[in-house]
Amino acid sequence: MEKMDTEIKEELSRLNALGLGRTLLPIEGPQGPRVAINGSVVVLLCSNDYLGLASHPLVKAAAIEAIEKYGFGSGASRLVSGNMEPHRLLEDRIRKFKGTEAALVFNSGYHANLGCIGALAGRSAEIFSDKSNHASIVDACVLSRAEVKRYPNKDVNRLEDLLKRSKAKRKLIVTDGVFSMDGSIAPLDSIVTLLDRYGAILIVDDAHATGVLGKGGRGTLEHFGVRHPSIIQMGTLGKAIGAFGAFIAGSRELIELLVSKARPFVYTTALPPSVCAAAAKSIDIIDETPGLRETLCENVSYFRDGLCGAGLDAPGSTQIIPIIVGDAQRTMEISRRLLEKGVFIQGIRPPTVPENTSRLRVTITSAHSKEDLKKSLSAIKEVLNEC
Ligand SMILES: Cc1ncc(COP(=O)(O)O)c(C=O)c1O
Repeated sequence: MEKMDTEIKEELSRLNALGLGRTLLPIEGPQGPRVAINGSVVVLLCSNDYLGLASHPLVKAAAIEAIEKYGFGSGASRLVSGNMEPHRLLEDRIRKFKGTEAALVFNSGYHANLGCIGALAGRSAEIFSDKSNHASIVDACVLSRAEVKRYPNKDVNRLEDLLKRSKAKRKLIVTDGVFSMDGSIAPLDSIVTLLDRYGAILIVDDAHATGVLGKGGRGTLEHFGVRHPSIIQMGTLGKAIGAFGAFIAGSRELIELLVSKARPFVYTTALPPSVCAAAAKSIDIIDETPGLRETLCENVSYFRDGLCGAGLDAPGSTQIIPIIVGDAQRTMEISRRLLEKGVFIQGIRPPTVPENTSRLRVTITSAHSKEDLKKSLSAIKEVLNEC
């Protein structure tokens, strides 16, 4: 025991010396555009609750109503203790929202990627994965035991070179729709042209695009106006949808296969029914309130213009805006000083992002007021000048 404690302490000191130790910052009250930390209210500029639905009164009411009707827990895996109504209704809602034949709900985006990639890619498959894909895709690729080829971020020519050389019968391309750490959009309009040419399947992880991108908020496919029978969509319910969980949307046969084969679906207790009811209500709100996306777009433009006006880079066009600092320790120092000025922007360091690209990952939501954004912009300018 003593030996183990010493080893763990040494590992922690190593991490901390590199500026890579992580700690949990307590906040008080619900998520929102502003949160309370140690009794003072700060602007929260690092949440994925892009449409401010996590604390929406109708979403909360849907969850409470479902708790009254169905209780809180779900008892077991849906394959074991029965398929409850809120799960079925949510899947029907997602299917209609995404315009696919069917959908299957998973307990998180992490589970959905593990489940879908694992079910489709066995040892004889080859996976072609963008180097900037989310950690859950990276882990899913490893667990699948398939041969994995990683291509440079958004480099469709390199992807095609790899596909050309592949002899695998099952070829699976996997990409984030919107890359989580820099907010750039995957070139799906080009990637889709490779599907028939090389007999490949494409999985799009639309964690940061669902509810946000496209005219109706349906995601990256809608943004590009792309459709193809070999595209599978993953989306999360814990970000713009403001609830928790995730889904895979695609053909009826795909969903049937996942029900039997996706281990993170089969071997885990289902989401609480109230979470499903809340997520379904959020999707209704997204459908019925295009103004939320319009406000988000206005806020994003305002903030990007403010950064550019201050001589800073604001790459991309989405609600995720990276301010690249480079050094991990300096990034965390900037984040700490911003907090002192009433703005919470989390610093992101390796291994989440590549070495020397530590950054402040700013996320804008439709719930931020112009005052919030103005205050944040001047705090960012001041702190970057200071350190
Ligand atoms: C691109 C991407 N995929 C998957 C996930 C995992 O989703 P979840 O938080 O629902 O597990 C995330 C979120 O953290 C993400 O950014």
